[in-house]
Amino acid sequence: EAGRLLFARESLFVKGVVAMSGLPPADRIEICFSGRSNVGKSSLINALTGTKGLARASNTPGRTQEINFFTQGPDLYLVDLPGYGYANAPLPVVEKWQRLLKQYLSGRQTLRRAFVLIDARHGAKPVDEEIMTRLDSSAVTFQCVLTKTDKIKAADLDKVVEQVRGVLTKHPAAYPEIVVTSSEKGDGIATLRAIIYGLMQE
Ligand code: GTP
Ligand code: MG
Repeated sequence: EAGRLLFARESLFVKGVVAMSGLPPADRIEICFSGRSNVGKSSLINALTGTKGLARASNTPGRTQEINFFTQGPDLYLVDLPGYGYANAPLPVVEKWQRLLKQYLSGRQTLRRAFVLIDARHGAKPVDEEIMTRLDSSAVTFQCVLTKTDKIKAADLDKVVEQVRGVLTKHPAAYPEIVVTSSEKGDGIATLRAIIYGLMQE
């Protein structure tokens, strides 16, 4: 309920950042959405905020190439990150944004939690574990979110949850609860809103 009220407020795009020097002032709590290219980060922000087209989503891996900041009420930034792994963009550009992504994940004081999105069809991959290891090192608590669960059967979902659970045991910064979502169908969105609301009360 409280999560619903938080997300009933209007979400606004603040800015897209291409260098650490461009980050907005660290004056409120931040929650970021990370994950492989095309996993559904931007779509999840749109589902959470109930604002289609707020974050630009597309079927081209590498759509989000900047760190995009959105406000949700006066006290929260939702941060849409570029993906890692394969991207349909020139290599020097990809390398630049990958560097920025790593700097952001290691050096943002107000980052309260990183959601690490994992495609329910694919499970956690070595590149996901690399990001998790980075978050361990920088002591940023992260939580896994399975995406696109509308695309798989319940039995397969159970298997991928077990696989991700196994991976999380190796990562001290991991928050154990895995969130199961579909931005398409709306599954898990209310749960995620409540988690984010809870994080703001800590
Ligand atoms: P990059 O910015 O390129 O890293 O991608 P992203 O992680 O932001 O993914 P994005 O939200 O752009 O979504 C990628 C594709 O997956 C789009 O075609 C979305 O419509 C689709 N998609 C995202 N979430 C879901 C979902 O829950 N279910 C289904 N069926 N498709 C989804
Ligand atoms: Mg995106």
